[in-house]
Amino acid sequence: MIKRIQQAHHFILAAFCTIAVFSANTQAEPSTKVNGVDIEQLLNSMSLKEKIGQLHLLDTGGATSAETIDGEIKEAIRQGAMGSFINVNSTEVANALQRIAVEEGPHKIPLIMARDVIHGYKTIFPIPLGQAATWNPSLIEKGSRISAIEASADGIRWTFAPMIDVSRDPRWGRIAESYGEDAYLNGIFAQAAVNGFQGKTLDDPTSLAACAKHFVGYSAVEGGRDYNTTYIPEPLMHNYYLPPFKDAIDSKVATVMAAFTDVNGIPATANHYLMQDVLRKELQFDGVLVSDWGAVDELVMHGYAKDSEHAAQLAMKAGIDIEMVSEDYVSFAEGLLYEGRISMQDIDTKVRRVLTLKAKLGLFKRPYADAAGKQDFVNAEYRQAAKLTAMESLVLLKNHDAILPLKTSQKIALIGPMADAAFDQMGTWALDGEKKYSVTVLDAFNDAFQDNPKALRYASAIPYSRSYEEEGFKAAIKAAKKSDVIVMIAGEEASLSGEAHSRADITLPGAQEKLIKALKGTGKPLVVVLMAGRQIALKNVIADIDSLIMAWHPGTMAGPAIADVVFGKFNPSGRLPVTWPKVSGQVPIYYNIKNTGRPAHSRPFTFMENFPLEAHQHTLGHATNYIDAGFEPQFPFGFGLSYSNVEYGQTKTNKAKFKRDETFEISNTVKNTGDKTVTETVQLYIRDITGTVTRPIQELKRFKRIELQPGEEKRVSFTLTKQDLKFFNRDVDLVFEAGTFHAWVAPHAMTKEHTVFEVL
Ligand code: NOJ
Repeated sequence: MIKRIQQAHHFILAAFCTIAVFSANTQAEPSTKVNGVDIEQLLNSMSLKEKIGQLHLLDTGGATSAETIDGEIKEAIRQGAMGSFINVNSTEVANALQRIAVEEGPHKIPLIMARDVIHGYKTIFPIPLGQAATWNPSLIEKGSRISAIEASADGIRWTFAPMIDVSRDPRWGRIAESYGEDAYLNGIFAQAAVNGFQGKTLDDPTSLAACAKHFVGYSAVEGGRDYNTTYIPEPLMHNYYLPPFKDAIDSKVATVMAAFTDVNGIPATANHYLMQDVLRKELQFDGVLVSDWGAVDELVMHGYAKDSEHAAQLAMKAGIDIEMVSEDYVSFAEGLLYEGRISMQDIDTKVRRVLTLKAKLGLFKRPYADAAGKQDFVNAEYRQAAKLTAMESLVLLKNHDAILPLKTSQKIALIGPMADAAFDQMGTWALDGEKKYSVTVLDAFNDAFQDNPKALRYASAIPYSRSYEEEGFKAAIKAAKKSDVIVMIAGEEASLSGEAHSRADITLPGAQEKLIKALKGTGKPLVVVLMAGRQIALKNVIADIDSLIMAWHPGTMAGPAIADVVFGKFNPSGRLPVTWPKVSGQVPIYYNIKNTGRPAHSRPFTFMENFPLEAHQHTLGHATNYIDAGFEPQFPFGFGLSYSNVEYGQTKTNKAKFKRDETFEISNTVKNTGDKTVTETVQLYIRDITGTVTRPIQELKRFKRIELQPGEEKRVSFTLTKQDLKFFNRDVDLVFEAGTFHAWVAPHAMTKEHTVFEVL
């Protein structure tokens, strides 16, 4: 009986929906032309199957030529059941797929070819975390532009970048893909990347639609384990995880990707509140929202959807426009519609957005890729841009006795598993990067020692970063002993960071710590250059290292960039976009912490090795810290040295008390007291002393990169308004609260000197 009632109910709904489909198709919508395409007219002429096809994004199944394209895929395109493809990376395949769509498809609607072009296509730029260390958005924009030009030559018009998941946890492998731990910096770089990828107009054949991902809070995964659970309270969500997305949306990012993760109990893919109330209404995003790979069907695995049909319903209702790779929409949307579980409007809204994107990309008038662009891969201009970005991404973290820069008149032992790692220097997500283009450190040093080749001795010592083999130590030590200085290129292979490559222990892998100790034993000065996708915990070896450079994974031009910095042709200017822990157990670690009721301090601070025996607990202080690692990081956020010396004066404001509608001017004098021209990144931090929700002890508000000649002094000033002091309170209202503020115009986040001002 119940079944019969249900059947009757279905029948009525089906009839109703058929009428709804019919009326939606015939209703006269105002003509809305986008780039010459009448979207409404096209939408109204499409069958339901074709509409659902526009929401379908599939992998090409590894097709490498027109002949190897799967027959079923071809047929699906012919039927209008496909909207876009991921992982096409050849003009031939792209154009072959496209030809079927625009010549044989029911309405000749072009496909979009998508690919993860994350930090370069053929010319590989530093990983995004390295790009962030430049603190130079113009380089990020330029790199993204070049990536777009190269990728579009192979028919790619949509990239799944930038990733703007602010990351406080270097165990999480995807920190490599992020712009670091600060929301403000992520926002600035997001804008630069979007502008670079999308160019002046999406209609330009070299423009890619960018994709701000992963919405939202993916980086907050528990324990840094990829894909894990996230719990993010609303004020934190709004003050920290969402702002970079707002910046990307304000820069007109064409698409957004939903995170894989469960956010506060509801997977992002089905999270109606996040996708509708926050993304669409609050952040005003009107572009295409794509799921992550297989994430619609993973709603079942999450324990949120009962089955794949339910998953399709939940994702559609939450607002995912395009389903990536799982096929629940194509399998179930029609049935869901006839059962009234989704509406025609749900489908039309999504299809309208997809068609609009295709029109904006100019695909209706110019569907094919121009193979001629191929000739231009990794050209001299692109290599130069990649080298400059890599050079600016290098962060000098330690330079004991000013060992660096080195001279090519010195005898040098070049050691280490990353010195000649053409593949690994490209880092994670260099899908289309080819190691034949890479210039390694060994190549570049050989070049530098052309006139004096005997002065350079190379020994890898360890075959690859994870290896525990020690057979090569002997040759390395011999080379070190015959040299004036050792340069060890250490770190992590590309595969030790990135998606699903989280590490619980973020020390140097393999026998590298042991190698550092052995090299130090030779008594020769030891320079270590790290190539890695994350901060590396160096507590066990930091004292053995005389000079330290963080090079991230620098990409195609790693070698020449590192050589120019090591030999002083380029004065290092990179700054950390993350806080650097001493040991893995300090993670998560970040500069913009809350003060707590018992803030950590050094008055007195007793490490556990100094505890007297049988000491009573209260004699050792009650503050938030670790008794074995302390509370300070190895290196603070924003930190980086150069071959010169820059001194800061006292931070000042133009008034001690401001009315809230005034502009606040905050400044400091910055002087180059060294003997080399430097690029200094001057940073403005603010602390709001009290709030109706507790406020971080510092927040980066602005920065300026300035050049200072030897002896030159500049006054650097920043202006803020109350807008910059606003934050989301407990009720998720963006508010300004009058009160006392501290300000630092400083070289990094752990500078003590500050000024105090009041806003009434
Ligand atoms: C999964 C990743 O999370 C996402 O960032 C990427 O764009 C897609 N796979 C497509 O490869």
